[in-house]
Amino acid sequence: MIRVENLHKHFGGFHAVDGASLDIAKGSITGLIGPNGAGKSTLFNVIAGVHKPTSGRVTMAGEDITGLKPHELFHKGLLRTFQIAHEFPTMTVRENLMMVPSGQSGETLWNAWFGRGRIAEEEAALLKKADEVLDFLTISHLKDERAGNLSGGQKKLLELGRTMMVEAKIVFLDEVGAGVNRTLLNTIGDAIVRLNKERGYTFCVIEHDMDFIGRLCDPVIVMAEGKVLAEGSPATIMQNEAVIEAYLGRGLKNKIKAEAQQ
Ligand SMILES: Nc1ncnc2c1ncn2[C@@H]1O[C@H](COP(=O)(O)OP(=O)(O)O)[C@@H](O)[C@H]1O
Ligand SMILES: [Mg+2]
Repeated sequence: MIRVENLHKHFGGFHAVDGASLDIAKGSITGLIGPNGAGKSTLFNVIAGVHKPTSGRVTMAGEDITGLKPHELFHKGLLRTFQIAHEFPTMTVRENLMMVPSGQSGETLWNAWFGRGRIAEEEAALLKKADEVLDFLTISHLKDERAGNLSGGQKKLLELGRTMMVEAKIVFLDEVGAGVNRTLLNTIGDAIVRLNKERGYTFCVIEHDMDFIGRLCDPVIVMAEGKVLAEGSPATIMQNEAVIEAYLGRGLKNKIKAEAQQ
């Protein structure tokens, strides 16, 4: 579905992405792991049109999408969430969802709300859609809460919800589990699996929580120093001594060993 070929993104002399090549298969939940600074978020930013690549190519279903703008990719069904959630804090959860179809396509809120041609029916449809999304994510009870009051995990769920307001095909999730408690992380994981199975979403997921990656993702791609180091099933990756020792650090290696011995 997505093919990344020999992608480079340099910031001055620094090679954040340094010749990465990878495929994200249609219908997969592909994991992307690697130490901090490996270039994972930069790779996402280049794929999602936030940064122009220094060189290299990105295709989606065979079509060259290299360097397209985020809103152009959005219309092709390619969406991303951010490592730091970026909700509109003073608006309610439901209003945040209702912002998405216009907000991401580059229109202003005021155009969307009051502009010519925007009729009450459309707004009603948007409201219905938002309520469906909230129901799907099991957070209907939060619909009138100000988004700024949500916990970190609830904000991540809202980010995922934003991708459901449109016809997404592939969604890139950056550290969807960061700062999220176990219960909410399970809710997020369940929502990802259901979106994948029931609605055909393809996912690429950056996450440090290896339990989460192991449960959801196949394959798992390992990045280090701007390059793809390894790819395989979660089991293969976690057994790959070189990957674990050299790139994920001794702490994680010991954790995996301890878990294996239990
Ligand atoms: N806009 C930027 N300008 C300069 N350096 C950047 C920029 N964005 C990221 N980097 C650098 O690129 C490297 C990779 O960052 P990042 O892609 O965020 O890694 P990861 O998400 O794997 O932790 C880091 O060393 C980071 O400091
Ligand atoms: Mg990152």
